[in-house]
Amino acid sequence: MKIVVIGGTGLIGSQVVANLRRQGHQVTAASPNTGVNTITGEGLAQAVAGAEVVVDLANAPDFADDPVMAFFKTSGRNLMAAEKPAGVKHHVILSIIGADRLPESGYLRAKVAQEDLVKASGIPYTIIRSTQFFEFVGGIAQSATDGETVRLSPAHLQPIAAEDVAAQVTRVATMPPANGVIEIAGPEPIGLDELVRRYLAAKHDPRKVVPDIHARYFGTELNDKSLTPSGDNPHLGAISYETWLRRSLAQQPVR
Ligand SMILES: NC(=O)c1ccc[n+]([C@@H]2O[C@H](COP(=O)([O-])OP(=O)(O)OC[C@H]3O[C@@H](n4cnc5c(N)ncnc54)[C@H](OP(=O)(O)O)[C@@H]3O)[C@@H](O)[C@H]2O)c1
Repeated sequence: MKIVVIGGTGLIGSQVVANLRRQGHQVTAASPNTGVNTITGEGLAQAVAGAEVVVDLANAPDFADDPVMAFFKTSGRNLMAAEKPAGVKHHVILSIIGADRLPESGYLRAKVAQEDLVKASGIPYTIIRSTQFFEFVGGIAQSATDGETVRLSPAHLQPIAAEDVAAQVTRVATMPPANGVIEIAGPEPIGLDELVRRYLAAKHDPRKVVPDIHARYFGTELNDKSLTPSGDNPHLGAISYETWLRRSLAQQPVR
């Protein structure tokens, strides 16, 4: 199949491109770095011409409320406008579990807007909603740090390794459209504070993690149900947090 991966140079996109190429598909990794821009429209019509499947794994460069909303709306509209005349048969996006339950978060409102555009487009689609990626734990710690203290909600997440996310996106891209939502999550729930505490301990980082039920994450307070799967049948990744931590520390020298 000819498959276009928008954001095909990103964390998830680059792995999906590699997986699909290994399976023998004809894959275009589309992003500003390869001359395809869903905001300006540059290279978009040429990229999707003749494609059966488009997988949208682009992310916004600015996560502030207005820019992130503008990014996902403009990008989504331009993609749909290019895909309709090209006759694309399946549009896949990667959204976030809980996006529809946390309207105080500007980023999550933007993901809901992206989902709504896809649902209304008339193009057959699958929305994959994922939990947080393990790979963002360092960034989460950084954004919640004040001096030597990291203040975080103890609410449960069920985070997942990017490798497992990429495997699920690859599987969905080669299946018929669900015209609905599927959920993917990591193998076990873990408190957000505990997730970061274990990461900092593994890196011998002296910062202290303090649980705070009012601490905001992407602009919103959390409870144990906010960001964990809502359906009965999420696809669970195989890589545990312990395994991921061990592997990622082996790749990067401990500070
Ligand atoms: N963070 C989470 O835990 C989480 C959870 C669930 C879902 N998601 C979603 O997963 C998706 C992928 O995230 P990621 O972490 O893999 O992203 P990432 O590593 O930040 O990569 C972003 C990609 O988007 C591309 N891009 C940026 N602006 C673009 C534009 N105007 N036109 C086309 N492509 C553009 C980038 O291209 P260049 O390399 O050329 O700049 C890059 O390939 C996102 O939609 C995100 O919302 C994230």
